[in-house]
Amino acid sequence: MDYEIRFEPAGKKVKVRRGTSVLSAARQGRIHIATRCGGNAGCLMCKVGVQESSQAGLSSPTDAERRKLGSMIDEGVRLACQAKVTGPAVVVLPEDPLKAAIRKQLEKQQEDELW
Ligand code: FES
Repeated sequence: MDYEIRFEPAGKKVKVRRGTSVLSAARQGRIHIATRCGGNAGCLMCKVGVQESSQAGLSSPTDAERRKLGSMIDEGVRLACQAKVTGPAVVVLPEDPLKAAIRKQLEKQQEDELW
């Protein structure tokens, strides 16, 4: 059975088979998620956010995820390489680090200009 995964903030939808990892789903949809460990829960670069309403659409966190992410799991963070699709879900990709740095710099400049 296929399920729809929506990747935010782009809003891109991908239909994948049950059991497909979120990382594979993203790749099928040509959505880039950075990795270095080849999907072995080693690099933590594939962290994604999952809203509480979508938790049921993904497999339970693996032991490796629990070890690596700790309390972040309670905040809805998952490893895209470990989380498997078990139903429809919305996955939120983190902001690109370079874009985040530029955005923060611009926000700081705007604040400084106000003073
Ligand atoms: S790809 Fe490295 S932790 Fe998921």
